[in-house]
Amino acid sequence: MVETIPSFGLGTFRVDAEKTVNSVKSALQLGYRHIDTAKFYNNEESVGKGVRDSGIPREDIWVTTKVWHDQLRREDVVKSLVESHRKLNIGTIDLALVHWPSPDSVVPIAETIAGFQDAQKQGLIRHFGVSNFTAPLLEEALKAPGGEGIVTNQFEISPFLANRKLVEATQKLGVKATAYMPLGESRAHKDPTLNEIAKKHGVTAAQVTFAWLLSRDIVVLSASTNPEHQQVNWDSQKLKLDADDIEKIDALDEGERHAKPPFAPKW
Ligand SMILES: NC(=O)c1ccc[n+]([C@@H]2O[C@H](COP(=O)([O-])OP(=O)(O)OC[C@H]3O[C@@H](n4cnc5c(N)ncnc54)[C@H](OP(=O)(O)O)[C@@H]3O)[C@@H](O)[C@H]2O)c1
Repeated sequence: MVETIPSFGLGTFRVDAEKTVNSVKSALQLGYRHIDTAKFYNNEESVGKGVRDSGIPREDIWVTTKVWHDQLRREDVVKSLVESHRKLNIGTIDLALVHWPSPDSVVPIAETIAGFQDAQKQGLIRHFGVSNFTAPLLEEALKAPGGEGIVTNQFEISPFLANRKLVEATQKLGVKATAYMPLGESRAHKDPTLNEIAKKHGVTAAQVTFAWLLSRDIVVLSASTNPEHQQVNWDSQKLKLDADDIEKIDALDEGERHAKPPFAPKW
């Protein structure tokens, strides 16, 4: 069993069911051991098939799914996870997250955590955590009964949305910060500063971005259906940036947020 969340994972948001199978399979064959999906992505069956067809032992792979924000009542959490468990069809799910906090905190987080604990007792999931939680929401969740079990807070982080305060608050609370949309919706590829640093190291702007996140002890999720991109992204774990590079990347922060659905919390 993988005991802690692997620091580099494959995302599957906006990847259709058919492409997901091959994307998951190729990533696992390249060395990835962490796959991120969600009930909302409508591709859990394909993620499960990719995992099963990869030839990599199930116990070496960490799979995360998420529960949508209208399913956060205790019984609904379990129902959602029964369905995710059935669709993934890979045995116990490694991690389940609250995808977005209950809008206006209509469902108390303590109730949702009780649902996760029920799911743990039923063998549906091993760990639970949260996504898109602000620092006050995360603090509240950690204080709820069982809240100490929260392993990560997954939220948007890119060079253009460094999200420094939330990263620091999350890490200070002993919770892993996980980055989604790390490339700022492809902006990283075109950014002159990232490209200048990339040129210096003989790598790509995407690799510089991932190495910067890893240097901040942030778990990276990158999505790609292209095995060449998957390999490039995976190799970024070998890249060590110097203090000057990091200072330049830190200066790119503009607070540019892409994920802003109407039900998002007040950041
Ligand atoms: N919790 C949440 O609310 C939430 C929200 C959003 C995302 N997420 C998770 O986080 C994951 C990552 O976010 P994201 O999907 O926005 O990922 P991303 O990695 O920032 O962007 C994915 C896009 O970048 C391209 N790409 C990736 N590597 C590349 C490379 N080396 N060169 C050129 N293009 C490259 C991919 O195209 P190709 O396929 O052509 O490579 C794809 O179109 C998601 O898939 C999902 O699992 C979570």
